[in-house]
Order: sequence, then C-alpha cells, then structure tokens
Amino acid sequence: MARSARDAAAHGLSRRQVLLGGALAGAGAVTALGVERAVGTAPEVGSPRPGPGAVPLADSVIPFHGPHQAGIATPAQAHATLVALDLGPATDAPALRRMMRLLTDDAARLTQGEAALADTEPELAAVPAALTVTFGFGPELVRRAVPDGVVRPTWVRPLPAFAVDRLEDAWSGGDLLLQVGAEDPLTVAHALRMLLKDARAFATVRWSQRGFRRAHGSEPAGTTMRNLFGQVDGTANPVPGTPDFDEVVWARDGWLAGGTGMVVRRIAMDLDGWDRLDRGGREMAVGRRLADGAPLTGARERDEPDLDATGPLGLPVIPEHAHLRRARSADRRERIFRRAYNYDDAPPGGTVSGSGQLFVAFQADVDAQLVPIQRRLAELDLLNQWTTPVGSAVFAVPPGCAPGGYVGETLLG
Ligand code: HEM
Repeated sequence: MARSARDAAAHGLSRRQVLLGGALAGAGAVTALGVERAVGTAPEVGSPRPGPGAVPLADSVIPFHGPHQAGIATPAQAHATLVALDLGPATDAPALRRMMRLLTDDAARLTQGEAALADTEPELAAVPAALTVTFGFGPELVRRAVPDGVVRPTWVRPLPAFAVDRLEDAWSGGDLLLQVGAEDPLTVAHALRMLLKDARAFATVRWSQRGFRRAHGSEPAGTTMRNLFGQVDGTANPVPGTPDFDEVVWARDGWLAGGTGMVVRRIAMDLDGWDRLDRGGREMAVGRRLADGAPLTGARERDEPDLDATGPLGLPVIPEHAHLRRARSADRRERIFRRAYNYDDAPPGGTVSGSGQLFVAFQADVDAQLVPIQRRLAELDLLNQWTTPVGSAVFAVPPGCAPGGYVGETLLG
C-alpha cells in the first residue's frame, strides 16, 4: 500500500521520492535527472537523491480541522469544482447529521492524502496537492435542520433579482454546496467522486461547475489572478490573516460563528464583444491598467486609486461608471472577499468563446455587504456590457470542526 503523505513526511521523504525510489536505484543518474526535470525540480547530477521537498506540490497538505473551514483563507488552488446538491425528500435532521459526519470524515482523510473510508481507487488519494473541501448550506438545508427556522440568518436565501440577471435554473440554487479545490485536477475529480458517493443516499447533484486559474508554479506565489478578459482580478481584496479579513469574512454570532456567507454567481463574459473594444476602452471599463492592474491614476498594482483625479479636459481619469468606482463604497461594511475562478466551456453556436467567471465571494453578512455592491453594479457598471450573470446561489458556510467533530455540528448537533 502507498505510504500516506504524513508517513513520508515523517521519514523526511517526499511522496515522489517514495514512488521514484526504485527507479532511482535501478536507473542511471541521467535517467533520474530526466524524470525529475519532467516535474520541474532537477537534482544535481550525482547527488544521491533529491533533497526533501523535491516535489513540494504533491505532498502539499492543507490542515482540515480548525476554527474555520479550509478553502476560504487558503490561497486559491489552480483547480476547483463547485457542486450543488438537492436534498432528497427523506433527508431530515438526523439524516443530515449522518450525511455531514460521513462527508466530514472522508474530506478530512482525502485532504491529508489518505484514502476515503470506502475508497475504490485509493492510489488516486495519494497526491493531496493542497486539496481543500468546503461545505456550504443552502436555505432548504438550514430549514430542515431547524424546522422552526428561528436561528437562520435572514440572508440565507436567494439574492434579490437584479436587472442584469439572466439566471438559469441549471446554474442556480442548491441545498448543499461542495467546493473542492486542489492544485491537481485528478485530485479534485477523485475527491469529488468519493464525496458524492457518500452523499448519494441523501441528495442528488443539481449543478456542477469547474473553474481554473494559472497552474501552480507558473507565477510567483501571491500573484493576483487574471480573468479571461486579461484583467488582474482580486487586487482590492482583504488579505487573509489580517484583522481586516477577519472582520469582512467571519461571522460572529450563533451557530455560524467562525463560518461565513458564500455567494456563487456564474457570470458569462462576452469575449467576442470584448475583442471589439480597444485597449484604452478596456482599461476605462474597470479603471485599471491591463499590463499590471495599477489604477489609471497610479503606477503600481497596490496604489490607491485617486477617484478625484481629472484629465486635461476636466473629465475623471477613472470614469464615473468604471467597475472599480461602482464596486467601491464609502461605507466600510460594504466589503467582500472575492475568490473567483475562470471557466471556459464549449462556445455556443456561432461564437468562439463559452467563457466566464465563477464569481465566488465570502462575507459575514450577505445582505449588508454584497447586496448593496451588486445593486450598484446592476444599476450602472461599464463592465455590464460584456458580462451577464447566468447563475446565482447563496450558502451559509459553517465553521470548521475539531478532530472527531463534523462540519455543521453547531447547527445540527
Ligand atoms: C465577470 C464579472 C466580473 C469581472 C470580470 C470583474 C473584474 C474586476 C476587476 C478587474 C477588478 C479590479 C481589480 C480588483 O480589485 O480586483 C474588480 C474589482 C472589484 N469587483 Fe469585480 N468583476 C466582476 C464581477 C463583480 C461582481 C459581481 C462583484 C460584486 C457583486 C464585484 C465586486 C468587485 C469589488 C468589490 C471590487 C473591488 C473594488 C475596489 O474596492 O477597488 N465584481 N472586478
């Protein structure tokens, strides 16, 4: 049986070293070098074996247990699949408890590089690649957990309708959300399959959406992501690990304390229409430069935009209806943490792009924080000409749990 990531780590070996051990012993240094080059970390010729961490990604493990669920403050991995499930008619509160225990148990194992309890392909569990599993509860799940409904935060319900919405049922709603992210798409697929097998006696898949960012290692860690318009997207986000982030993201009251609110919007991006806009127009639509994400009034990505600056004709440098300006508020409460993914599906007939963004935002209170921003953007935002929300869902993300506990116990327990 393959060693777990922890076993390997305890022996000072990376998993890749364990797996390659035989090959390295039997083959010459040149062959070994070729193998290591293929994974991007060539040892010096003649060195007895690669140093610890030769394949850091394979063994990369994100702790599962803790006060908050992983997959929120965790640096976004290259791949994520979001799946929403509908509960079966018989899935009552005791059944929800059983389901969440099963799901928690297997999520805890898989994220640590261990096989799920009834894993049919345990070899696929051997590369955790920074796997995280994040669970969110939709309105119906919360209602079934607490039939009197008293404790439900009021925002656990669909967002209000916005004029820009062209929502499709196929991408909207859901009772239980699984956000499965990892640096490796095979790891995501395997974890998801194990979890869906756990859930299948209780719930059926409603929608599944796959997203991606740049491959791990293709940019320095901490680089802000780019979306498929080519924009640097995520600059003005609260920074995980800071008091500011804690204030924006984590709920403080009742069963949700240590959890958060999650909004998932599938937003189609009209790349064919975007093609017809020149570079200056594209930059004005947001108020930031494409090259480096700097505000049109600044020099570097993190420079504070100057919303009062005017050009030679007296017009604002950052247009009145630029996305940046419309998304901002003087009210400090109206802030969110965006953790989006790109998607790129089959182009609809006659076009060459079926692309967009899986917009994912975390905030302690959806009504107080995200809704006013979305309302302003729906009223006026230059970006609206090329973006169309086609899916929408809201989930309460419970806090994390300790070993032996389960996600959702503060509501269901
Ligand atoms: C496909 C749709 C969208 C695209 C392509 C997009 C793109 C961008 C870009 C390029 C920026 C500037 C860089 C940054 O600070 O991240 C930005 C900022 C921002 N966006 Fe969006 N966005 C989209 C949808 C949304 C939605 C739906 C919301 C909220 C409901 C939103 C809220 C924000 C906020 C709060 C900021 C930061 C504003 C600031 O304080 O400077 N965006 N977006």
